[in-house]
Amino acid sequence: MRVIDENTITDAAIEQMASTPNPRLRQIMEAAVRHLHAFAREVDLTPDEWIEGIKFLTATGQMCSAYRQEFILLSDTMGLSSLINSLHDRRATEAGTKSSLLGPFYRQDSPTFELGESIATKAHGGPEIGIYGRVTDGAGKGVPHASIEIWQPDEDGDYDLQKHDPKEMDLRGRFFTDAEGRFYLRTIRPLGYMIPMDGPVGDMIRAQKRHGYRPAHIHFLIGAPGYREVVTALYIAGDEHIESDTVFGVTESLVAHVQDRDEASPFNGMPVIRYDFQLGAVQGAGSGRVGADPSQILKKTEAAAD
Ligand code: BEZ
Ligand code: FE
Repeated sequence: MRVIDENTITDAAIEQMASTPNPRLRQIMEAAVRHLHAFAREVDLTPDEWIEGIKFLTATGQMCSAYRQEFILLSDTMGLSSLINSLHDRRATEAGTKSSLLGPFYRQDSPTFELGESIATKAHGGPEIGIYGRVTDGAGKGVPHASIEIWQPDEDGDYDLQKHDPKEMDLRGRFFTDAEGRFYLRTIRPLGYMIPMDGPVGDMIRAQKRHGYRPAHIHFLIGAPGYREVVTALYIAGDEHIESDTVFGVTESLVAHVQDRDEASPFNGMPVIRYDFQLGAVQGAGSGRVGADPSQILKKTEAAAD
């Protein structure tokens, strides 16, 4: 009879899972078991601590809905989402704009706007800004008719989902680049905000004495046929939390400056951000989205349960 103890249990579990026909699932689960066991051994995890962990994960699942994805928030606040983004970027064959978190506030099916229009459809007190630039390929050539989805919080740091009936969209929309790959649009200057703190992830952040803020930013999801979709965000230079983002989304190349004067801007006299996005060539069918519209995740889990 095999002796099962704190040293042999890892091999025993991995050997039993070796029957998994899907090689990638086998590899992932083997590594997960190895690392989980090593973690428990390293901290000498007690039964009480283990049950606390189970309670925390249960509460995390219970917090999820069509409008809230607490597990993604957990992944974000532990730096895992940012790590997955970096691994995704490293797999690219051509350098492109770096990825950043999709976050929990992305919605599919936001309204389409004409170039030059504003995504601020409700009344706002914040200052208006313009954003313009180009979407190019790896060689710097403009990508015509690229889709640019954009979403952001308002001048108080709130997304539409947090303020209105979730069916009423504001400060989000979709644009298409012109024949030269140019885009230009108007919005309001966003404010940084605290991540949702009313769930178990908020409890964790408080227990760790972290501030919970994200610096002011604007999200983008950009794609065109034949190109690798990029999920990214621009972070507004000068924000007090730019160096200490709670979800580790900021990297140097994504910091954008709001310029009061820009001779080349299509928006006369309006503060503007100029930024060019670069798309690499498409590879494989996999998605680069570290995140999703929460309602879509819920739909998939409900379909799997049927
Ligand atoms: C966001 O940028 O919308 C976000 C990303 C991660 C966690 C919370 C919010
Ligand atoms: Fe955000």
